[in-house]
Amino acid sequence: VEPLRVGLAGLGTVGIAVLRLLERRRADLEARCGRPIVVSAVSARSRGKDRGVDLSDVTWYDDPADLAHDNSIDVFVEVIGGEDGPARRAVEAAIARGLPVVTANKALLARHGNALARAAEAHDTGIGIGFEAAVAGGIPIVRTLREALPGNAISRVYGILNGTCNYILTRMEREGLDFATCLAEAQRLGYAEADPTFDIEGYDTAHKLALLTGLAFGTEVDADAILIEGISAITPEDIAAADELGYRIKLLGVASRAGDGIEQRVHPTMVPKSSAIARIDGVLNAVAVDSDALGEIVLVGPGAGGEATASSVIADLMDVATGRHIPTFGRPASAMQPYSAARIA
Ligand code: NDP
Ligand code: HSE
Repeated sequence: VEPLRVGLAGLGTVGIAVLRLLERRRADLEARCGRPIVVSAVSARSRGKDRGVDLSDVTWYDDPADLAHDNSIDVFVEVIGGEDGPARRAVEAAIARGLPVVTANKALLARHGNALARAAEAHDTGIGIGFEAAVAGGIPIVRTLREALPGNAISRVYGILNGTCNYILTRMEREGLDFATCLAEAQRLGYAEADPTFDIEGYDTAHKLALLTGLAFGTEVDADAILIEGISAITPEDIAAADELGYRIKLLGVASRAGDGIEQRVHPTMVPKSSAIARIDGVLNAVAVDSDALGEIVLVGPGAGGEATASSVIADLMDVATGRHIPTFGRPASAMQPYSAARIA
């Protein structure tokens, strides 16, 4: 049986966790898809770095675009990060040669997802881009929206979409720690983006929300249409004042139908302590979907961290290994509606 040969670009928090989880789950994954899944080539910046894994049998590329051109790989996994630069060049190269792509990079997809999806689906194989890991870490919200809810007209999708911010807010509230200490700890645990400004200023939540909007409403991805406010200005005094009034502060991303358009916003929100969302603590995320046939469903789970995110990458690899062809956003990219937001002043 031919193995699925994976080219893995990025060997940081997520990349190393993918390698480890593939090894730990090897036998069951093979039993499920009928072929071994093997990382045969990798790319990262520092070749000499000790990463605690054995890379002696894999081909090394300094440039991820060269990895994307490796003729021996069957799928290209991008876990580098960044909306432009090496990640974008490598993903474009992989798509140009018709290679399936799996990515955890929400910044890239929020900015270029429409074009990348169109390019990927233009090939005869029509394979969409797998991006389960890009939204809410380990929570399977992408495949839920892409595959499980076509019988529903969705009116709203919202939730806590950034593990770093929720971790910071939770520890500030529960332990009275200051903002900088909590952020440093989130970075140490591998939750934060390489530039944590993306987390704390709300951009990462906005990137994920833009992707959820595309999946939920069938509109082209448009992160620029989102009103964004992060949590960097939240003080212990704000948290204490909210507490006294019976509220907790959470950073929410909300996309809902508004008139003929869609409203997308990201901002800190006071939520009643008695609400389910107030009890989502630490690195956990929660994504709620309101729709006509189903009512409200809520998915809760780890929103960041190596293993949780690797779990989602592996789900996408299984789709590739078994030849499941699903359009990136659940419908052909060419059928996505232009985005017309009811912007908030
Ligand atoms: P890390 O910073 O831990 O790892 C990034 C990896 O990319 C490193 O191995 C680095 O190489 C490599 N890299 C960076 N620049 C280059 C370059 N120019 N050429 C080749 N390789 C390069 O990031 P994470 O693993 O945390 O995140 C990766 C992606 O996954 C990002 O898109 C992030 O948003 C996303 N993500 C992360 C989650 C998390 O919890 N961490 C959760 C969900 C998504 P080197 O090691 O040599 O420096
Ligand atoms: N930095 C992101 C977070 C990683 O904290 O949620 C997961 O996308």
